[in-house]
Amino acid sequence: MTGKHTDRAARIISRCRQIATCTEVPGEITRLFLTPPMHEVHALLRDWMEAAGMTVRIDAIGNLRGFWPGLVPGSPRLLIGSHLDTVPNAGAFDGILGVVLGVTIVEELGGDLLPFAIEVIGFSEEEGVRFNKPFLGSLALVGKLDADTLARTDRNGVSVRQAIDDYGLDPTPLPAATLAGGAFAYLEIHIEQGPVLESEDTALGIVEALVGQTRMELIFTGQANHAGTTPMHLRHDAIAAVAEWIVAVEAYASSHQPLVATVGRIEAAPGAGNVIAGHVTASLDLRHADDNARRASVTAVLQLAEKAATRRGVHVTSAPQLEQSAVPLDPHLTAVLCRAAAQACHPTRRMTSGAGHDAMILAPTIPSAMLFLRSPGGLSHHPDETVLPQDVEAAIATAMEFLAQLRDDRTNPKDGHA
Ligand code: GLV
Ligand code: MN
Ligand code: MN
Repeated sequence: MTGKHTDRAARIISRCRQIATCTEVPGEITRLFLTPPMHEVHALLRDWMEAAGMTVRIDAIGNLRGFWPGLVPGSPRLLIGSHLDTVPNAGAFDGILGVVLGVTIVEELGGDLLPFAIEVIGFSEEEGVRFNKPFLGSLALVGKLDADTLARTDRNGVSVRQAIDDYGLDPTPLPAATLAGGAFAYLEIHIEQGPVLESEDTALGIVEALVGQTRMELIFTGQANHAGTTPMHLRHDAIAAVAEWIVAVEAYASSHQPLVATVGRIEAAPGAGNVIAGHVTASLDLRHADDNARRASVTAVLQLAEKAATRRGVHVTSAPQLEQSAVPLDPHLTAVLCRAAAQACHPTRRMTSGAGHDAMILAPTIPSAMLFLRSPGGLSHHPDETVLPQDVEAAIATAMEFLAQLRDDRTNPKDGHA
């Protein structure tokens, strides 16, 4: 790497770490959808974008959007982006790396105008933590944020609509929002969040498809009662039912790989050591590349819940939160990205993403491509999540080649794809 290139990778990493200081919880990185630290994130990114000559606005769902014009007014737009929110106690790179890289790409143009405009988007919500529903930012961008979603409430009873209003934005136009015409492609650059690239000693991955996912909430209702006086055979213990079910889910997924299934959150009430739990809510996150296999697994896993509950006299209900089909990315744009990496002399591996990304929501509307960077230790959704400077450099070099290929395609269209 030359000094200039070492500098740009170091600057990207240091900006991600600076954004990581914008948090709801001192000492960790926790930044949910439209919580107060998002104002600081917006301010930092706005400064960097404006310094690069971009025009910046925040849309009605809180997506930060920086615009770099094309050669002529009304030029088609290349979207580059990822998300600004985090899971609780997150790392510093999931999502934000793709946004900071987007800003750097525009900086690296050095003022050049291309035959297309660039819009760098920091999506306001992707993780689904605050409202138990992911992708709010990208759903709004493609006009798929429905009134039911706007009415959802967080654990404090604040609705999505209210959260938008509290942040100082106007939610009124959202149900009718659609991406204004002219976006011809979307590029998302993201950490892999898994161990595959590292295990193969490869810096970059090209994503061909993203697996489908189902997210649900299950409610187990038993009977709260005294922990000292209720004999074991007369209990209706909702926590015991959930515990048996969680272990059964783990066993089921282990014997049906590549299925992955996770119960990542449980909440018991009344929540005292000397009271049998009468009420438990539990999350279910289930993913598979094959949509039919995923749907069959959901049915099987719900039957396991019924079984664990019934034998204790516990009642169980389930509520769907997300039903997202597997999504292929655009073959032509993906081929352009592969060529770009080869041109930049970086070997890549083609892969499927087990994680969800905003590209999943955009891909049915806008041709989309994704570039992954190796995740050291395969670690993500964890404070130790990191990136290697040489991989960041490989990503930015590939992205600049990608732009060059798109420019050539659009200047000399050969096959009607440009
Ligand atoms: C997003 O990080 C997801 O895949 O859950
Ligand atoms: Mn994430
Ligand atoms: Mn992410």
